[in-house]
Amino acid sequence: MDQIQKEALTVLKNRYSHRKFIDKPLEDEVLNEILEVGLAAASGGNLQPVSIIKVQGTEKKNQISKICNQGFIKDADTLLVFIADYYRMKQWAMVEKAPFGREQAFRDFIIAIEDVMCMAQSIECAANLLGVGNVYIGTVNAKYDEMKELLNLPKLTIPLLITCLGYSDDKGMNRVKLEKDVVIHEESYQTLSDEEVKERVVDYKYNNWIQKLEGEALDKYLKHFEEVALEVNGEEWASKVVAKIKEQGGINRAQYRFGWHYNPLVQRSYNDKIFKFYKDQGFKFLP
Ligand SMILES: Cc1cc2nc3c(=O)[nH]c(=O)nc-3n(C[C@H](O)[C@H](O)[C@H](O)COP(=O)(O)O)c2cc1C
Repeated sequence: MDQIQKEALTVLKNRYSHRKFIDKPLEDEVLNEILEVGLAAASGGNLQPVSIIKVQGTEKKNQISKICNQGFIKDADTLLVFIADYYRMKQWAMVEKAPFGREQAFRDFIIAIEDVMCMAQSIECAANLLGVGNVYIGTVNAKYDEMKELLNLPKLTIPLLITCLGYSDDKGMNRVKLEKDVVIHEESYQTLSDEEVKERVVDYKYNNWIQKLEGEALDKYLKHFEEVALEVNGEEWASKVVAKIKEQGGINRAQYRFGWHYNPLVQRSYNDKIFKFYKDQGFKFLP
């Protein structure tokens, strides 16, 4: 491995999400290189059912920032909104008088999502290699209607993800990642014992994080977690969740992520809205 390769790998291994963009414009040449790396990404059947809407106007960035309720978005130089785009693909099929039913097949849509992620991740890597700060924004999938209107999206398109790009002075949050042998399985899937999960996830990755609570705050969280667990997992599990919170004097990371930050009652309440949007956009694979 030569020096340049080693340096490139070091950049990629040390990547992190940036949320503190500075007021320094991204040069056209740099952005162009990043986008060209994206265009070269792998694509199932090389069909490329992907479009990117490049947003640089202040007003529109402000609107997206508001829609996604994340203030730093407006400070990025450029937003790339990734679209699963069957509109152009179908048009090609119509021009060429081909039978077309990809919007009826969920399997094809999975490929389209994978295509978007391949392109998005190529772009992320290129940005990191060029010293350009970046962060993904997934909130679009809770704001389909607003994004459709703002970006003038036609039928057969779904906005999936945003990448914010710009120079940044964000030092990162030092996120700990799971260790190699927890994620990479040799030849076949290896399950972990509960003790190993405790050691490798709870201790190692999350350093036994507990948000300590007392008094009214503790009561509020206990009530919330009991209600959520009761609804999604039933009475027996709800009593275990409550007992654990009491024993800890607060909530642990798993409880925070799965019961609070990504409250399953809220998350699943989007199902109908999401399915409706897919149907309205002309996708026909949902029952
Ligand atoms: C699909 C996806 C959606 C994301 N959405 C958001 C988002 O809406 N807002 C945000 O600040 N970060 C978002 N992120 C960034 C993650 O929070 C971040 O990758 C994670 O905390 C790990 O930190 P790191 O990227 O610094 O390693 C998203 C990442 C992915 C892959």
